[in-house]
Amino acid sequence: MSTLHDLQRPLGSTGLRVSPLGLGTVKLGRDQGVKYPNGFTIPDDAQALALLQQARELGINLIDTAPAYGISEQRLGPLLRGQRDDWVIVSKTGEEFEQGQSHFDFSAAHTRLSVERSLKRLETDRIDLLLVHSDGNDLTVLRETGVYETLAELKREGKVLAYGISGKTVEGGLLALEQGDCAMVTYNLSEQSEKPVLDYAASHAKGILIKKALASGHACLAEGVDPVRASFELIFAHPGVSSAIVGTITPAHLAANVATVAAVLQDIR
Ligand SMILES: NC(=O)c1ccc[n+]([C@@H]2O[C@H](COP(=O)([O-])OP(=O)(O)OC[C@H]3O[C@@H](n4cnc5c(N)ncnc54)[C@H](OP(=O)(O)O)[C@@H]3O)[C@@H](O)[C@H]2O)c1
Repeated sequence: MSTLHDLQRPLGSTGLRVSPLGLGTVKLGRDQGVKYPNGFTIPDDAQALALLQQARELGINLIDTAPAYGISEQRLGPLLRGQRDDWVIVSKTGEEFEQGQSHFDFSAAHTRLSVERSLKRLETDRIDLLLVHSDGNDLTVLRETGVYETLAELKREGKVLAYGISGKTVEGGLLALEQGDCAMVTYNLSEQSEKPVLDYAASHAKGILIKKALASGHACLAEGVDPVRASFELIFAHPGVSSAIVGTITPAHLAANVATVAAVLQDIR
């Protein structure tokens, strides 16, 4: 069985070491307002626990959540009880999802409240990486709202160990990396416009997490090639990439993705 235990890599200069594949948890907490090709049922606790255990056994130590992922954070607290030190936990601030609608608040007061709430929900005293969950206006959010200054304060207080942005623009990604630790970037077979952010990270020892590595599952519908392999070949060919966060709730997909990432990294070596 292929695992990722020996393939952990540094997350930029944060001092954190992460598996090259992380587990995205939108589908553990939210089934409204999502853009997956197929409908799905949110896994129950037994299924979620089994998925987390499978991920750990396969060498995954990175998990991505957010207040905007429905009840994802609330569920992960109890589900990860007793294994806090085995995981690098990523959460976010700025987007709230209530009654089927997103709204955004990047103010200093909300940022502090949101992070304190995430600490409680996740039953922990620190969040390894805290990302601004951008609404797309990355530069305005970073420059004019107080969110980044507040995350820097929370880092000094030890409540977050590193911070950055999950953004949508090159300019925002670059500014976020100049002043912070990590960017979460969309980079897949059909969307590579944020590549300059990866280039900057590679030359400045910053962290990069890839979101929508499989284009939210749409890449998997392609015929003729192995789209999962082709996606990971593209992603890991870039030296700036720390890890790809893939949001799966299907155990067979999790195992196949791990095997494919292990094979691709083996070929690159
Ligand atoms: N910060 C942000 O703004 C933001 C935005 C989007 C996503 N994210 C993060 O990034 C994570 C991943 O993004 P995402 O969930 O949108 O997209 P993704 O990881 O590209 O795709 C997930 C979809 O692909 C399917 N899939 C996974 N492996 C597969 C395989 N081997 N074969 C066939 N289908 C497969 C999954 O279905 P199954 O469940 O059936 O495997 C799921 O529907 C999220 O969970 C979240 O943590 C962050």
